[in-house]
Amino acid sequence: MTWREYHESTKHSIESLRRSPHVLDWANMPDPFRHYEGVPVLDLPADPPSPEIPALELLQGGYGSTLAADGPAFLSQLLFHSAAISASKRVLSTGDHYALRVNPSSGNLHPTEFHFLTRDLKEWPDGLYHYRPSAHMAEQRAIGDMKLELTGGSAPIVFVLTSIAWREAWKYRDRAYRYCSHDMGHAWQALALASRAMGCDSFAFGHFSDDEVARFCHLHEDEWPMLIVELRGNSIPVREPSADETVWYGGHANQLSKERTAYPRIDGIHGATKLSKRAYRGISPAEPAPAGSGEVKLPPPASAKSAFGEITRMRRSALDFLGGMQSMSLTQLSTILAATIQPFIADFAGARFIQLYLYVHRVDGLQPGVYRLWPERAELELIKNGDQRVAAAGLSLGQELAGNACVAFSMIGDLDRAARAHGDRGYRYVHFEAGAIGHRLYLAAEALGLGATGIGAFYDEAVQRYLNLAPEQGQVVYHFAIGYPVHDPRLET
Ligand SMILES: Cc1cc2nc3c(=O)[nH]c(=O)nc-3n(C[C@H](O)[C@H](O)[C@H](O)COP(=O)(O)O)c2cc1C
Repeated sequence: MTWREYHESTKHSIESLRRSPHVLDWANMPDPFRHYEGVPVLDLPADPPSPEIPALELLQGGYGSTLAADGPAFLSQLLFHSAAISASKRVLSTGDHYALRVNPSSGNLHPTEFHFLTRDLKEWPDGLYHYRPSAHMAEQRAIGDMKLELTGGSAPIVFVLTSIAWREAWKYRDRAYRYCSHDMGHAWQALALASRAMGCDSFAFGHFSDDEVARFCHLHEDEWPMLIVELRGNSIPVREPSADETVWYGGHANQLSKERTAYPRIDGIHGATKLSKRAYRGISPAEPAPAGSGEVKLPPPASAKSAFGEITRMRRSALDFLGGMQSMSLTQLSTILAATIQPFIADFAGARFIQLYLYVHRVDGLQPGVYRLWPERAELELIKNGDQRVAAAGLSLGQELAGNACVAFSMIGDLDRAARAHGDRGYRYVHFEAGAIGHRLYLAAEALGLGATGIGAFYDEAVQRYLNLAPEQGQVVYHFAIGYPVHDPRLET
């Protein structure tokens, strides 16, 4: 299996959906919460304060600060604003509730798990932990001096983000690896932005030896390490170093479903994108993204006061958007796009792989049409004229929200250029980047009083044809929509 075979074989078309309908086995739905049972569990202080930096200032490159004076307070504030439960929804027919989190997830299935290593934090034992979002606690899987070779061992906090593909495969079958990778991009940005809102820098490593990291963290075999994110900065409360012996508690991973269906294509693409121990050294730079220009110059981005801490916890996916006449301003659109242009800090992010195409439905001062964003010049190039509402919804698997939004997006990933630089591993990086852009779109929209929804379901080839793109010019990897959200009667905060 190569990335190309996987990608081709997981494209949606009317025929592919008709050919293999899927009925969800609700009795076998995977548990969205992983626990490593039988290990000490450490409390994270309840109700941590909200990072006060305005969300838009942060998204435009600003830094916040924190008053957290010790490890527990710091970790609590960080995780509360990047990975915790932030709302719940009620199933109207049964009255049952289910949890929603700070980081979004396709189908709310949450394949991403947050593990973290700590070193010399004040009043917090060094060791390896797994975050338990259901109780906002940390499962202590090992204590003592632990060094992940890749990161040099000196960062006070290192996250290992893992994916449990079965959670997504239960619903999305073979296409699920794409969604796991998008979700990983969202989780990465949730963490990176919360870190910056608390005054510290993060750096993500996508290039590492998978099996070594899995072994190092004693991960259950259904969990795959996908990103390593180290945090550094003076705002992290540290103490004098101590070199304690490592003691493993490990813990027993809970079983997520009665049965697990095998998806050989998912195993195939994961295998193809893995790196061996030798390969992870030295990631090669990618060719730069193409540059161009357009006839619409975007106005400077706006500012708004809403604090990052509130915005990140209030962020929700809109169920649908209000159609009709209400439009967004060009400045709002420009502010949202500016949030996506800020650099990503990762070993694989030296060159961007995603280009944004916009289906503009209702933006003041912009005629309806399809536009391409040229980020370096902050310009939009008109590609197609005319009303795009039916096309955007139709291409998004008939989901009306893409037509009722003020603007919808196709993210076009330069999969070939990524593969030239990084081999099959590049397939992951393109999807991480798409998820990361999506996360910034969510937060910028929320900060402007709008709503957003990530859209993983689209007719791949139909999008290519509609945008008149040859495969070597890039392939669609993610859709998105932003507008005025309809009221969601299921939502409870
Ligand atoms: C990668 C990805 C793909 C998604 N695809 C769709 C989609 O096709 N249609 C949709 O209505 N929502 C989609 N969503 C939104 C999720 O359903 C939503 O994130 C999830 O229900 C959790 O709700 P929250 O975002 O409010 O926390 C997607 C989200 C992500 C992150």
